Amino acid sequence: MKGIILAGGKGTRLAPVTFAVSKQLLPVSDKPLIYYPLSVLMLAEIKDILIISMSQDIPHIRRLLGDGSHLGLRITYAEQDEANGIAEAFIIGAEHIGNDSVALVLGDNVFHGHSFQKILHESVDDIEGCVLFSYPVRDPERYGIGEVDDSGNLVKIVEKPVDPVTNRAIVGLYLYDNAVVDIAKNLRPSERGELEITDINQVYIERGQARLVDFGRGFAWFDAGTPDALFEASQYIQVIERRQGVRVACLEEIALRRGFISLEDCLRNSEPMRGSAYGQYVLSLGEGSPM
Ligand code: TTP
Repeated sequence: MKGIILAGGKGTRLAPVTFAVSKQLLPVSDKPLIYYPLSVLMLAEIKDILIISMSQDIPHIRRLLGDGSHLGLRITYAEQDEANGIAEAFIIGAEHIGNDSVALVLGDNVFHGHSFQKILHESVDDIEGCVLFSYPVRDPERYGIGEVDDSGNLVKIVEKPVDPVTNRAIVGLYLYDNAVVDIAKNLRPSERGELEITDINQVYIERGQARLVDFGRGFAWFDAGTPDALFEASQYIQVIERRQGVRVACLEEIALRRGFISLEDCLRNSEPMRGSAYGQYVLSLGEGSPM
């Protein structure tokens, strides 16, 4: 399975900060926002990853993540200079996807919770159709809401429902088989001029090939697109990290634990970060596991 992080967009809700810096490079607690979606793909054992962003932001993201080899990954980059919609990722990324299945994660989404890795592993195996994920929210009228039948098949998505029948918001992580490329190429822009991910999902629903997996209550999901959400995500991560003494989305740790890199590589990576608590944490991985 290939991975795509969609890390473009205008970031209008975070202006003026985003006039100068990509939203995905803003800090959530002790690390850049993009570390969180990248960690999701790594936890799913996906190593071949395309990052799509605005041409002005790619040099900065590249400075941060390079070609990914220090993490045992292969990271490549592609431009999306207009926010033409999430579904455009599969057109821009068609070559990268090739004949494979693909996981798309939005560059501003933060996931954390119990059994996350297990859920990911169960979902990426032999994917046929699409697998979407949901999370119970207090204010379903702000989100795309998924309705399922008794077997967990997704039967309907309602965008920003006035009268929601469930509170299962569809989050920014989507798994598709290879048909997604052709489906995306045949999409027409919506009224707001974007290639909508919902229209792709609708095709899979019509084919009876869409599943919705619920993360449930013991989980946290943030779409860190506003100042408040960015702040809340930071607070949440800080509390978890302080209480548990482990770090969320520490890329070096995930790469080490998944066997993508050796301890030697890991320690070498941490050298330039010696002066930060994050760097000290990576250094400490050589002294045995905290969990
Ligand atoms: P949004 O938060 O919907 O859009 P945005 O980032 O442009 O922010 P705003 O609404 O404040 O203007 O996008 C969700 C994620 O998807 C975010 O990480 C940016 C990314 N994205 C793209 O890269 N390209 C796109 O065309 C769209 C719509 C989103």
